[in-house]
Amino acid sequence: MERLVIRGGNSLQGSLRVHGSKNAALPILAASVLVDEPCTISGVPNLLDIQAMINILKSLGMEVVQENDRVNILNAKVSTTNVPDELMRKMRSSIFLMGPLLAKYGSVTVSRPGGCAIGSRRIDLHLNGLKALGASIIEVNGFIHCEAKRLRGADIYLDFPSVGATENIMMAASMAEGVTEIINPAREPEIIDLANFINSIGGRIEGAGTDRITIYGKSKLNSNQGHIHYEVISDRIVAGTIMVGAAMTNGDVIIENANPVYLSSVISKLKQVGAEVIIKDHSIRVIGPKELDKIDRIVTAPYPGFPTDMQPQLMSMLTIAKGTSIIKESVFEERFKHVEQLLRMGAKINVDLNLAFIRGVERLQGSTVKATDLRAGASLVLAGLVAEGETEIESVYHIDRGYENIEGMFRKLGADITRK
Ligand code: EPU
Repeated sequence: MERLVIRGGNSLQGSLRVHGSKNAALPILAASVLVDEPCTISGVPNLLDIQAMINILKSLGMEVVQENDRVNILNAKVSTTNVPDELMRKMRSSIFLMGPLLAKYGSVTVSRPGGCAIGSRRIDLHLNGLKALGASIIEVNGFIHCEAKRLRGADIYLDFPSVGATENIMMAASMAEGVTEIINPAREPEIIDLANFINSIGGRIEGAGTDRITIYGKSKLNSNQGHIHYEVISDRIVAGTIMVGAAMTNGDVIIENANPVYLSSVISKLKQVGAEVIIKDHSIRVIGPKELDKIDRIVTAPYPGFPTDMQPQLMSMLTIAKGTSIIKESVFEERFKHVEQLLRMGAKINVDLNLAFIRGVERLQGSTVKATDLRAGASLVLAGLVAEGETEIESVYHIDRGYENIEGMFRKLGADITRK
């Protein structure tokens, strides 16, 4: 089992380009099922979850070749619409294949993804959305089978702006007959990226990033360009993680390729702890303060609210801020698993349901801790950067699901971190 070993105390310095966005690349790869021409998707990060998605596409019979950060879809034709159970279990995002396979081929069978370390992660909004488009859905022994000769456009109101459900419905509706409106959709940047991708392959989606998305269905998605090229946006959560690292270590770091608009809520919190943030076009520079101030209140919420995917990292920072900070997790039910690990490092945190009260301490102590999920793991790396002595992080594979070579990235900025 691989571990990360960090010697704390170095301040992060320098500049860096972050890799492409995992959460944009995953649905875009699923949407490649819809293409009718050869297609190259670039900026695809080399991560465990991405590998899992590519393996699923291949298992369906698609011809897919990966070359560094580029994925070439040579032939999108599938020979089966059954997503293999063992691959489905590897990654929740395989649920994204429902929409495109159903829309293009009229049927799909997937197994129900289980709950996970951060919450129950229901899929009712995905299923209701597909039903509204005319799919019949039966579930037997954990397998979900959907069928529809041709989906029909519909008005779909989402009770909660679920990222995954919005994406699944967008993909399905892009090949439905007629027009679909999604009311109260997710507005995350990754939704805009998926819409841009679908438009680049011949679809027509308007309003992505707003509170109403209109999808004009087409019987075939073809751009008439012969070969499609699409580049995925950079990963705002990886950028945000490094920015927090710079703030925590009294560092000075420039992220060369991040969209400051997509990180507004994180930038605002970094300013509250006393960091200086300098924005230039697509670069963000963070200069950490000598001493971090507390934050009275952070509430995670769908975009443009504060991202739940940055909550563990912010908590890690606040463990060494002056005073008591409060974080409310309102997106996932169980996203405080990192608390127990941070306590092992000397943090003072009390949790009451979805509220965490973080009383800043002078220093964290290096310890052996475990990454319980992806962002929890990232928060422990940040804690290790400032802890006294050595921190060993176990179950690194969770971190590898979302950060490409995390040790290389932080080492480039001067951290003492190795993989063993
Ligand atoms: N929800 C439902 N019913 C549904 C779908 C969602 O009740 O049908 C609930 C969930 O249980 C959860 C909330 O809605 O409590 C938010 O879920 P959402 O569907 O928005 O999230 P997701 O699509 O499953 C994506 C990201 C997550 C990120 C969330 C929220 C991908 C592949 N995953 O998940 O990323 O936390 O949006 O922003 O895009 C991560 O990268 O670490 C990660 C977990």
